[in-house]
Amino acid sequence: MILIIDFGAQYNQLIARRVRECHVYCQIEPPDIDMETLRSLRPEGIILSGGPSSIYEKNSPKIDRAIFELNIPVLGICYGMQYMVDALGGTVKQAPKREYGFAELDIKKPAQLFDNVDKKIQCWMSHGDSIKKLPPGFSTTAATKNTPIAAMVQPKKNLYGLQFHPEVEHTPQGRKIIRNFIFNVCRCRRSWTMKTFARDAELQIREQVKNKKVILGLSGGVDSSVTAALIHNAIGNHLTCIFVDNGLMRKNEAEKLKITLKRHLKINIRFVSAKARFLKELKGVTDPERKRKIIGRIFMEVFEAEAGKIKGAEFLAQGTLYPDVIESISAFGGPTSVIKSHHNVGGLPVKMKLRLVEPLKYLFKDEVRQLGKQLGLPDELIWRQPFPGPGLAIRIIGEITRPRLTVLREVDDLLLDEIKKAGYYKKLWQSFAVLLPLKSVGVMGDARTYENIVAIRAVTSKDAMTADWAKLPHKFLAKISSRIINEVRGVNRVVYDISSKPPSTIEWE
Ligand code: XMP
Repeated sequence: MILIIDFGAQYNQLIARRVRECHVYCQIEPPDIDMETLRSLRPEGIILSGGPSSIYEKNSPKIDRAIFELNIPVLGICYGMQYMVDALGGTVKQAPKREYGFAELDIKKPAQLFDNVDKKIQCWMSHGDSIKKLPPGFSTTAATKNTPIAAMVQPKKNLYGLQFHPEVEHTPQGRKIIRNFIFNVCRCRRSWTMKTFARDAELQIREQVKNKKVILGLSGGVDSSVTAALIHNAIGNHLTCIFVDNGLMRKNEAEKLKITLKRHLKINIRFVSAKARFLKELKGVTDPERKRKIIGRIFMEVFEAEAGKIKGAEFLAQGTLYPDVIESISAFGGPTSVIKSHHNVGGLPVKMKLRLVEPLKYLFKDEVRQLGKQLGLPDELIWRQPFPGPGLAIRIIGEITRPRLTVLREVDDLLLDEIKKAGYYKKLWQSFAVLLPLKSVGVMGDARTYENIVAIRAVTSKDAMTADWAKLPHKFLAKISSRIINEVRGVNRVVYDISSKPPSTIEWE
């Protein structure tokens, strides 16, 4: 495995992605990891990430310099390189000019890290400090116009430094450089596959849970479905899933999910219908955050009541993914975890004293999908677009009523049908309709109409943190608009949302 030390860079998840793409396992740990834990992980290589600090700031993050004496290859990237230089007796100084953006890298010396890499490559820089003097035993392997020491090596100890970021797309040959480190320098083997992951995870689950019972809130989304399939493989009927129908799902979705889940996950699933209760408590509520709070609270109450009926349950399983874990262990915390907290409607019931089982907590979303495939789940579960816990409640702006739910369901159903037929479903991060609290005038036949407006939202994204509105062809949009207005009663106007995130968000509420 490769150990990544997180000095707080915004790109550290990307480093992990690049390593995993090489089928090598990696883990991100904070700089204050103790040496005993570090050794017990038995890394074949260590990558020190970049970070926003300057090595000379009082509280800049540092790792025990003993890591340079472990006989394990170390690659320092940006701040990681500067830390290495400072720790080993070289000098780092503030550069006269901050360097940010593209630069041409001139590779001066053959080095294992640059095997099969062109002599001149484009690289991505983002730093204020620079290396002034190398520590003893190091030599320069590459330079840019503004950065005479842009890469360095200490071959005897297998220590490497890169001032630029090989992990970002803006360094086109960066993947090769990371691959060279992993395979040529660290001599890792390609052993990280979802097949071996599933086998190991099942063993671990059995070991953790023994003969006790586990419960899981199943939403029908990819994360909870894959978690269920994996745990079921490990402990069979000791797993019970609870599916709460809140009446805020898409047209026929709860029913369709029931059938799909039953067919493909031959698991104990308890379906609880709480539609009426959700609608009743949401009556007259228009404020988005109040909607979320009410829905979150009822979900918990219904879930807890159902879970309470399961005798001997000691564990609660959750489909937590690695990006959430990384955010919470990151050296600087980061604001992203706060933004996301309201998204996790199916969180840990507070009153229940259950221990957590989180078998996906070292996986990224695309790996979860691969794992789902490996476990035999159908594409309709693996490739579902994300759907928010509060469901259509936050896509009906204003009050949620049965007739308004019906209108939105019909529009949404038609939209998804067209999106799927045209082959956009997997390409888009999300695509959905929003019902506005406005009416507008129209003309149908010879008569005046005064009906609802719906907005269509379709976005591309990698992780929902940022998103771009999808540039769907006009002809396609025209077809959707005309079908909606002709086929859904109560809608006479369709608009397309052309805002990106930030500054807008994906959902309207
Ligand atoms: P925003 O609207 O914040 O959405 O750009 C980012 C992602 O989160 C989803 N989302 C939610 N998911 N409960 C959820 O489970 C929520 O309250 C919630 N709000 C937004 C949204 O669909 C998108 O994928």
